[in-house]
Amino acid sequence: MKEVFRVTTHITARAPSNIALIKYMGKVDPVLNIPENPSLSLTLQDLCTVVNLRLKSEGEGISLSGPGLSEAGRTRMIHYIQKSVPLITEVLNKFEFKVDLQRWESSQVEIESRNTFPASSGIASSASSFAAVTLAVAGALVQDLERFQLSLDNHDDYGRKLRRALARISRQGSGSSCRSFEGPWVYWEGEDAEALNEIQMPEMAHFVLLVDSSPKKVSSSLAHSMVRSSPLWNERVKRVEERVKVLKQALKSGDIPTVSRIAWSEAWEMHSLFHTCSEPFSYWTPGTIDVLRGLASFILQKSPPIVTLDAGPNVHVIVPASQRDEWRARLKELWPQFEILEDRPGLGARVVSSSDGA
Ligand code: PMV
Repeated sequence: MKEVFRVTTHITARAPSNIALIKYMGKVDPVLNIPENPSLSLTLQDLCTVVNLRLKSEGEGISLSGPGLSEAGRTRMIHYIQKSVPLITEVLNKFEFKVDLQRWESSQVEIESRNTFPASSGIASSASSFAAVTLAVAGALVQDLERFQLSLDNHDDYGRKLRRALARISRQGSGSSCRSFEGPWVYWEGEDAEALNEIQMPEMAHFVLLVDSSPKKVSSSLAHSMVRSSPLWNERVKRVEERVKVLKQALKSGDIPTVSRIAWSEAWEMHSLFHTCSEPFSYWTPGTIDVLRGLASFILQKSPPIVTLDAGPNVHVIVPASQRDEWRARLKELWPQFEILEDRPGLGARVVSSSDGA
């Protein structure tokens, strides 16, 4: 019997989640995911998606698996991968990487995507999963994987431009994913997200109080379009522009009370948009309200926590790392019924390992 020579290329990409202090809510272009207003976020380190991609020389087609992946989620991701291959190829060519499109087309592409946070934690994973998949696909397309990996890690202009070009593509899968390519503090306006420089914030610690972990009833795509019918939508872009100015300055001077006040207003404003649109909906549970009321008393203190929520019921609390133990103990004491996830700021999505085997 003729022996078949099997070749497998294996790439692992890892992308963190990010939490916005100024929210991306509303799209100017729902196909390209161009936001109505700029947003500003903190990239996390350990709450992330890890994607393992294998190119197998026998077979063809794309398969995608992973714990907690819904059928709708799988279809959306496969559709994105098919759409993004020519776009990623174009970017790689522009950055002078040789692309082996034939290998991709004649291989079976096996993708496994898993989050480091519990599948049922209610933490949004679209930002981290689209960023990780984009890098894994790019890694599978390039011939010189090592140079690609090193270039992504580079903090020079070339590395930054490469990450930005790939983030633009990822943005078309999930808008907020473009902020997961950089870190720790990231500003996204229009097409591009970039890391902010000259930040004077101390090292930070991040907690999520898992108030409720059931799946979202309203997807963020739907929320982006529904908010436009809220009376509070008027002038939001103007308000955000003002907040961006103040927040950037506060991050530059390490003014945590101002950062905290803006994050608080933004979280409440985004959820108020949900609560006041033409068909009102809410992600909050009684637990969310209880936690927000409890934290409200700390917001006016001299050293306040930075409190925010994503489009979900869980409450994020960001404090200086020097207060990590104190805050962990406080949150546990105040809300012993809720699980707490813990993280810290990170630098963004990367290809973490690769191998070619026979
Ligand atoms: O990337 P999307 O379309 O899932 O948008 C999510 C936007 C929010 O998470 C609700 C806010 C933000 O800026 O991250």
